[in-house]
Amino acid sequence: MNLESHSINELSGEVTCPGDKSISQRILIIGSLLNCDIKIYGFLDAEDPNSTMLALNNLGASIKKDKNIVSISHRSKPFSNPSSFLDLGNSGTGMRLLTGFISGLNIEATLIGDESLSMRPMSRVVDPLTLMGKEISTNSGKAPIQIIGGNIKDNFEYVMPIASAQVKSSLMLASLSSGNSIKITEPKITRDHTEKMIEYLGGSIEVSESSEGKTIFLKNSKLSKISTYEVVGDFSSAAFIIVAALISKNSEVMIKNVGLNKTRSGLLEVLLKMNANIEIVNKTKTCNEDCGDIIVKSSQLEGINVPNSIIPNIIDEIPILSVAASFAEGQTIIKNASELKVKESDRLHATSMGLKTMNIKHDLLDDGLIINGTQDDLEIHEEIESFGDHRIAMSFLIAGLRSKNGVKVRDCSNIETSFPNFSKTMNNLGMNINE
Ligand code: S3P
Repeated sequence: MNLESHSINELSGEVTCPGDKSISQRILIIGSLLNCDIKIYGFLDAEDPNSTMLALNNLGASIKKDKNIVSISHRSKPFSNPSSFLDLGNSGTGMRLLTGFISGLNIEATLIGDESLSMRPMSRVVDPLTLMGKEISTNSGKAPIQIIGGNIKDNFEYVMPIASAQVKSSLMLASLSSGNSIKITEPKITRDHTEKMIEYLGGSIEVSESSEGKTIFLKNSKLSKISTYEVVGDFSSAAFIIVAALISKNSEVMIKNVGLNKTRSGLLEVLLKMNANIEIVNKTKTCNEDCGDIIVKSSQLEGINVPNSIIPNIIDEIPILSVAASFAEGQTIIKNASELKVKESDRLHATSMGLKTMNIKHDLLDDGLIINGTQDDLEIHEEIESFGDHRIAMSFLIAGLRSKNGVKVRDCSNIETSFPNFSKTMNNLGMNINE
C-alpha cells in the first residue's frame, strides 16, 4: 500500500498516544509467567505485539483480546513445546525477548520471522544464551532460531558488547523464567522497561552506576501477582506527532498519556536543544513508568551536534529526527548510530535515500548522517521508498507537510506493526494522508 501526504500549514487538537510497543510485549511475556488473571489496559493492538501474543498462546499461555482490553488467564498446565513454529513476523523485540524467555523454560521451540526479521542478527542473543548453558541453533546467526536444550546457569555475569535493550531483556527473561539470578553491565544505558516492570512486580533489581556503566543485578525472587496493568503511550509514536507539529508553520497539538521514561525519550532533550517549543504537563507515574501530556507548537528549529551518549535513547527516533533536521537552520550531526543498519531496514541508508529524493543536502556516514536543513518547502518529484520499514514510511509522510505538491511513500503497510491508526490520527489533527 502506497500513501500520499499533502502540504499542510496548520495542525491542531488533542490526541491520545497509542500504547507502548515495548511495554505491551513485555507485559504479555512477564504477565504470562505470573500465571494469574490480569487485565491489560492501553495495550498496543498492532502486528508486533499481536505476534508475540500468538507465540505465547502457542506455548500454552491463555491470552485474549477484546475491544482493546487484553486478558491473560491463569494456566492450568505449565508452558509446553509449541505445536508449530513460533512466527514473530516483523518483530525483533518479540523474537529476541521470547528466545530468552523460552530458554529459561526448558522447552523446545523454533522461532521464525518475515523476510526482514530473517535478515537481522540473532547471535547477539544466542551467543550469551549459549554461554548461559543453552543449546540453540540458527541459520548462520539469523532466524530460524531453534532452542534445543540445556539449562540456564545461576549467577551468570555479562558485559554487553553492544547497546541493546532487546539483548539485555532477553538475558534477564531467561534468568527470570528459569528462576536464576543474573548480573548485566551495560556500558551504554538502554531502555529499562524490563527492569521497571520486574521492580513494579516486587522482584529484586539492584542497579548501580559507575565509570564502567550501569550494572543490573536481577536476583531470583518471587514476583507478585497483579490483576490489572496499564500500558503508557508509546513515545516513539508520539515522536511523529511532535515533529509534525514542530515543522509545520502554524500548529499547536496536545498528545496525552505519553511514556516519558528517560531511557526512551531522549528525543525530547535533543529537540529542546534544537529550540523546540515543547511543554510537558500532567506528569504522573503509571505502573512504575513516567508519563505525561506533551504540548507542541510550531518552532524554527536549529541544527545541533547530537551527543553520542544519547543515541541509544533515541535509537528508534533517528529517522524522524532526520526529518526535523531537514527543516532546521544549519547543520545537524548524528554519529555513533551504526545500530540503525540492522533495524527493520538499514535505516541510515533508507533515511539517506529519502532525504536525497527530497533534495536535502546531507552526507551519509558509516555511523550516522550530517544533515543541512532548509527553510524552503520542498518540491518532491519522485516517490520515496519505505524499504518496508514502518518508521521510514511514517517519517517521510510527516515530511510531506512541508512539500509543495505532496509526497508519495511506497509500501506503507508495515505501519501496521507499530501505529495502525497513524493516518487517521494525523488526519484528525489536520494532515491529509491518503492512499
Ligand atoms: C526495543 C529496543 C530497541 C528498539 C526496538 C525495541 C525493545 O532495539 O530499537 O524497536 O523493546 O527493547 P535494540 O535493543 O536492539 O536497540
